[in-house]
Order: sequence, then structure tokens, then C-alpha cells
Amino acid sequence: MTSYVLLVLSLNTLYLTCRVASVASASKLLSTDVNVTNNEDITETQHATCKIATDELVASAKATVTRVLTGACTAKAIDERLRSLEKNLTQELEEIKTMLHSLLENKRSKLNNDNLGSYRIDLEDNRKIVFRSPRQAEIDAFNNTVQRVSSTNESSSVFFYYWQIKNFDKKLASWKTARSERSPTFYTAQNGYAMYMKATPRYFPDGTVFMAVGLTRGAYDSLLEWPFSYKVRLEILDHSEEQLRQDRRSRIWDPSTLCSDYFWGRPKLTGEPDNPECIGSSIPRQVLFTKLPFADGGSSRNTRYLWNGSVTIKLMVHI
Ligand SMILES: *[C@@H]1O[C@H](CO)[C@@H](O)[C@H](O)[C@H]1NC(C)=O
Ligand SMILES: *[C@@H]1O[C@H](CO)[C@@H](O)[C@H](O)[C@H]1NC(C)=O
Ligand SMILES: *[C@@H]1O[C@H](CO)[C@@H](O)[C@H](O)[C@H]1NC(C)=O
Ligand SMILES: *[C@@H]1O[C@H](CO)[C@@H](O)[C@H](O)[C@H]1NC(C)=O
Repeated sequence: MTSYVLLVLSLNTLYLTCRVASVASASKLLSTDVNVTNNEDITETQHATCKIATDELVASAKATVTRVLTGACTAKAIDERLRSLEKNLTQELEEIKTMLHSLLENKRSKLNNDNLGSYRIDLEDNRKIVFRSPRQAEIDAFNNTVQRVSSTNESSSVFFYYWQIKNFDKKLASWKTARSERSPTFYTAQNGYAMYMKATPRYFPDGTVFMAVGLTRGAYDSLLEWPFSYKVRLEILDHSEEQLRQDRRSRIWDPSTLCSDYFWGRPKLTGEPDNPECIGSSIPRQVLFTKLPFADGGSSRNTRYLWNGSVTIKLMVHI
């Protein structure tokens, strides 16, 4: 008999907690007008029902039921809120259905107009949008630019450059040890230093990947100060949604403490234009195959650090 009562009580509690929880998350989602006292009540309720000891469970279940029935959050209020939510969702779904319908109608009428060409182009465009990396907006805004960056007690200028290496997944799979790819030459700002990056998909036979940066002969070398003295950092971009991103960052390298003038001095006037690179990041191969959180199965060539098979390296030079 006691256990029966207990069961009913805990089922009741579960049921109520469940509803309270769903209302809590729903209201967060839609930022409706649940006030602070309510939210506190809800939190307490969930804590109270997490206890395992039976005596405490009975007591806390009683407390919960009492609170839910007499507090600001009555069962009736919850019911009303859920009903309102249901109505709103149904309404939104109807709107989406209407939108889809008119989109399809639009395509159909284009087809009927014998406009097969533009229909194809539409599809192409859609596909491109779907395939856009979540980092593309950042790349478009910052690539090859100098930005003022301020931290707590200092403000400095940083040059940003993004290098995308296409088909990096295939290069990882097939390139022999030490085979590398060099980026195009770029300049750190106007009349700046000429630099390049270099990626080696298999730097060591164990498969370690290496991303490096170095100086190369440039048009303004005679006007610049040598050796090069600006601090440098590399990052491998993570293509997850913003809250989940974990870019692979190198530490900040300071040329005055790393490598000799052989690497940071003025590049030779003749012969091989590139200074050898002295700094870089090694990345364990499997890191590049880390799955995207909530992978949508859209493309098997998307991982956290590969987008459509490409890897993107971000270089920052603190000028
Ligand atoms: C439903 O929509 C109405 C009007 O848009 C809004 O006032 C109400 O708070 C919404 N209900 C919920 C539960 O979001
Ligand atoms: C910020 O200021 C404090 C005290 O003024 C100093 O000790 C610290 O090194 C500064 N940090 C940076 C990054 O310059
Ligand atoms: C960054 O800008 C350079 C110079 O305009 C360009 O060649 C390069 O493709 C851009 N990088 C990316 C990832 O778009
Ligand atoms: C994906 O990569 C392939 C091979 O590099 C390329 O042909 C294709 O255009 C890329 N797709 C998109 C949407 O960038």
C-alpha cells in the first residue's frame, strides 16, 4: 500500500516536473514573459525531485505538488501556456507550408515556361549557399586586411590572411612524406613584408601534418627594416557553429626569440626567393578528421577542420 502511494506520488511528480521542464525550455526558446520568481520555483522543483532516498522523495514530492498547485505556476497556468505554444507552433508550421508551396509553384511555372536553363542555375545557387562554410563571412570580412584589435590594456594592429587549401582530404590520403604545398605570396599590408605559408600533409612518416609560415622576397624589401620582428600566430579554422568552435591555435611566436636572422633577415636578391620557414604548427592527423558536432550528413568531405575537403589556415601578424 505504501509503495503504491509512493509510486503514484513519484509518477505525479515526474509528470509535473516533466511539464514544468518543458515549459521552462519552451519559454527560454521563445523568451516569453515568465517572471523571475517563476523561474526560481521551477529550478527548485527540479532539484527537489532529484533526491533518491524514499522518505525524502515523499516529502519533496509533496512539497513539489504543493508548490506547483499553489505557486505562481499552477497546473492550469501550465496547461494554458502549453496550449498557447501549440497554437503558435501550428501557426508557424502553416506559414512554412505556405512558403514551400509558393516556392514549388514558382519553380513549376518556370519549368512550364520552358525555362529549363534558369531552373538549373537556381539549383546551382542553392547548392552553393548550402555548401558555404560558416566561416565564409569572417573570411570575406577579414582576409588580407589590417584590423585594430584591442585587449584589456593594449590596442594593436593585426594583419589577417586566410589560406584555403583545396582537396586537403585527398592530399592527406595520398601525398608522400615531406611533399608540401606553398601558398601564393602575400604582403602584410601595403608596402609590407612578403610572406608565404606552407602545408605538409605528411611531415613525419607517422602522418603528422605541418603548417608553417615564412618570409619571401618582396617588392618593398629595400624599404623595410630587417630582421623581421613582428609576432605571428597560425590557426586552423573549425567550421562548426559559433558556440562550438575550437580553432586550433598556435602560440604567439616572437621572431626575436625564435630562430636566427637566417630565417628573419632580408631574403636573398637572387636565386631561391623563399627564406626557409622556421615556425609552424604540427597537428596530429586524426584531428583533421574530427567529426562536426551535429553532423548533418550533408557531405562526407565536411569535418570540424575540413570543409568540402578544404582546410583553411588563418595567419595573424601583429604589426
Ligand atoms: C504565442 O504568440 C502570441 C502572439 O504572437 C504571444 O503573445 C504568446 O506569448 C505566444 N505564446 C507562447 C507560449 O509563446
Ligand atoms: C597590462 O597591464 C599590466 C599592468 O599595467 C601589465 O602588468 C601587463 O603586462 C599588461 N598586459 C599586457 C598584455 O600588456
Ligand atoms: C584571401 O585574399 C587573397 C588576396 O585577395 C586571395 O588570393 C585568397 O584566395 C583569399 N583567401 C580566401 C580563403 O578566400
Ligand atoms: C567541393 O570540392 C570540389 C573538389 O575540390 C569542387 O569541385 C567543388 O566545386 C567544391 N564545391 C563547392 C560547393 O565549393
